[in-house]
Amino acid sequence: MTFLTEPLHRHHKYCDDLFAKTEVVVADRDWVRGPVLFDDFHVEIEKHFRTEEVTLFPAFEAVIGMTSGPTQMMRLEHAQMRSLLEKMRSSLDGQESSAFAGAAETLLILMQQHNMKEENILYPMCDRSLTLHAEELGPVVRQHLNAPPGGNLSDVPKRTLVNGRDLQPPEPLEKSKRPALPRRQAMVEGVM
Ligand SMILES: [Fe+2]
Repeated sequence: MTFLTEPLHRHHKYCDDLFAKTEVVVADRDWVRGPVLFDDFHVEIEKHFRTEEVTLFPAFEAVIGMTSGPTQMMRLEHAQMRSLLEKMRSSLDGQESSAFAGAAETLLILMQQHNMKEENILYPMCDRSLTLHAEELGPVVRQHLNAPPGGNLSDVPKRTLVNGRDLQPPEPLEKSKRPALPRRQAMVEGVM
């Protein structure tokens, strides 16, 4: 059986590898390859964050009828990591390898803790709660993550439409009144 979050597990490892390569090259003060590798990593991790924020989390929140809790915490951690990514970008622009290394070390710790919480707690919760929707959401998740590498940040979709509607978390409802997520004919559209 393939779980909905399986591509996200694999993509965590892919991002980890890109991050490790970037760190090595910048530590060597290679100001040509360093920014290129960093951009690849930055695009991939942003792709990952947005796949969760525009597809997985809203679907999970719609099913459980709650927007606070683990998904809110994960969004906050994404914001913290985005701010570190900006620091890394500006230290690369200024060719400041020690500033880059400092931000990178903090990001590595945050990223490891964040990924562990997702892989051990949140993803299994999503897999259990979204079993009935895995068939329609799986292709959306894979499409977001498999977008060709080497693009830039503006290519990363900021929201997902399913059947022409945003996947927005609803107001919490009693279980009996919760709407079913739209089924089939998933239409995915990346919008700036
Ligand atoms: Fe995440």
